[in-house]
Amino acid sequence: MSQDPRITRLRELKAEALLGGGEKRIEAQHAKKKLTARERVELLLDNGSFEEMGMLVTHRSNNFGLEKEKYLGDGVITGSGTIHGRLVYVFSQDFTVFGGSLSEAYAEKIVRIMDHAMRVGAPIIGLNDSGGARIQEGVVSLAGYADIFLRNTTASGVVPQISAILGPCAGGAVYSPAITDFVIMTRNTSYMFVTGPDVVKTVTHEAVTKEELGGAMTHASKSGVCHFVADNEVEALEQIKKLLSYLPQNNLEDPPSIACDDPTDRGDKELDTIVPVNPNKPYDIKDVIHRIIDQGDFFEVHADFAQNMVVGFARLNGRPIGIVANQPAFLAGVLNIDASVKGARFVRFCDAFNIPLLVFEDVPGFLPGTDQEWGGIIRHGAKLLFAFAEATVPKVTVITRKAYGGAYDVMNSKHIRGDFNYAWPSAEIAVMGAKGATEIIFRRDITKSDNPAATLEKLTAEFADRFANPYSAAERGYVDDVIEPHETRQRLIRAFERLTNKVDLNPKKKHGNIPL
Ligand code: HXC
Repeated sequence: MSQDPRITRLRELKAEALLGGGEKRIEAQHAKKKLTARERVELLLDNGSFEEMGMLVTHRSNNFGLEKEKYLGDGVITGSGTIHGRLVYVFSQDFTVFGGSLSEAYAEKIVRIMDHAMRVGAPIIGLNDSGGARIQEGVVSLAGYADIFLRNTTASGVVPQISAILGPCAGGAVYSPAITDFVIMTRNTSYMFVTGPDVVKTVTHEAVTKEELGGAMTHASKSGVCHFVADNEVEALEQIKKLLSYLPQNNLEDPPSIACDDPTDRGDKELDTIVPVNPNKPYDIKDVIHRIIDQGDFFEVHADFAQNMVVGFARLNGRPIGIVANQPAFLAGVLNIDASVKGARFVRFCDAFNIPLLVFEDVPGFLPGTDQEWGGIIRHGAKLLFAFAEATVPKVTVITRKAYGGAYDVMNSKHIRGDFNYAWPSAEIAVMGAKGATEIIFRRDITKSDNPAATLEKLTAEFADRFANPYSAAERGYVDDVIEPHETRQRLIRAFERLTNKVDLNPKKKHGNIPL
């Protein structure tokens, strides 16, 4: 029996849609070492789980002969599917259709899946590869962008939003990924900038390549726009899947626990000597993290930006946590502008999505200097303080060594609602370091003495003995216990278990006014 012509027509239409901008342009996409929009969706989602929406949508423009050039789907693939069995919504920009540029119909498709995701409480993933506004459509395209920006904003803190940049992303188009929670970029094939190299050359006379101006490493290490760098697209999509494994579907759910084979009482004797006796010697806080968390599996976020602050996801007894740690191996773990902003953003993400926070603290204070003061370390440092203070998720701190000055207060201290605050015996909790403190409070004794250097040394040693330890803080109950480093894993697992049903609320308000 011959096929019903109505079925034949449908099949032909779908086959046409699957080809996007056509075979030639698909070849060109592959030649640039890029996958097509459909290949990306297939790699991202569980096999056979993609439920496409708007496959037959076309643009409505009659400008510049566009009415003669229509492609089914109109340059963006939208729909839902599952990743490790969990629902997500996805849009994937198709560079083979008008360079992935955004039309009115295209924007509507994205908006539709964002609205769906919000209604059902599922993450939104955007795979970006686009020449920006569809030039022939003019202001209609700008309106489409704004419709998306609005939804990015209203979805913020409700469902996780992840952006992968897998090609160009320029002009105002950058602001959609910028509002989302995480940005992943591929090395050498992606770039983001508000104005490209040509405009930069005209305006500031700087000669800069696309890669230097807005490539993956630029945004990962200099601007902080990018959270993860991938060597290729397959790796970028894998990173998205791994990231999602730590996150709840929405702000009303808890993050997903998994079975844990790593013994909860696993002690690590190496931890007892990991902090050097000399307080000026560095050590790598990531060694500490790896030894304590499940299977040493740390999913670092923003690894190349402000490396004096380490943030990322891990699990304790199978339950996801967010870790914020000072890094004594980089700039002595000092808090500067970038580290404060990096930490604050991560803390707020975790708090928005019910992910408990674990802090490892070894911080000599805030970085001095005109650069920092004129750059606004006061308001940027305040962001970190604000973020920790307003967070109501379970919050646990371990002071491994230095907790000096304002930085002591900021790093999830007891005073700003730390639930469990522990210190190692190597902790030094004081207003400032022993030498600096001695120079100030004993200045007169030192200058008057016959041997100022020896007097300074003696008084510094006395001061250190009195204050460079965890016991003054423990006497006051500002730390709940001083613990032996090897028992940290067990104690943390117990602490977070105690906090499983924690309820803490901020006063009802429209929103706070974090010092931006
Ligand atoms: C319509 C576009 C387009 C666009 C590319 N194309 N960008 N069509 N609107 N914005 C089309 C090209 O005509 C071409 O069609 C195909 O897509 C592939 O483009 P190529 O230039 O051949 O590709 P490539 O050499 O890889 O260069 C990619 C590119 C370049 C760097 C993105 O196309 C480019 O600079 N495009 C313009 C970018 C731009 O200025 N956009 C507007 C920015 S303002 P054919 O038929 O030949 O295959 C903006 C504002 C957003 O976006 C505001 C939000 C608030």
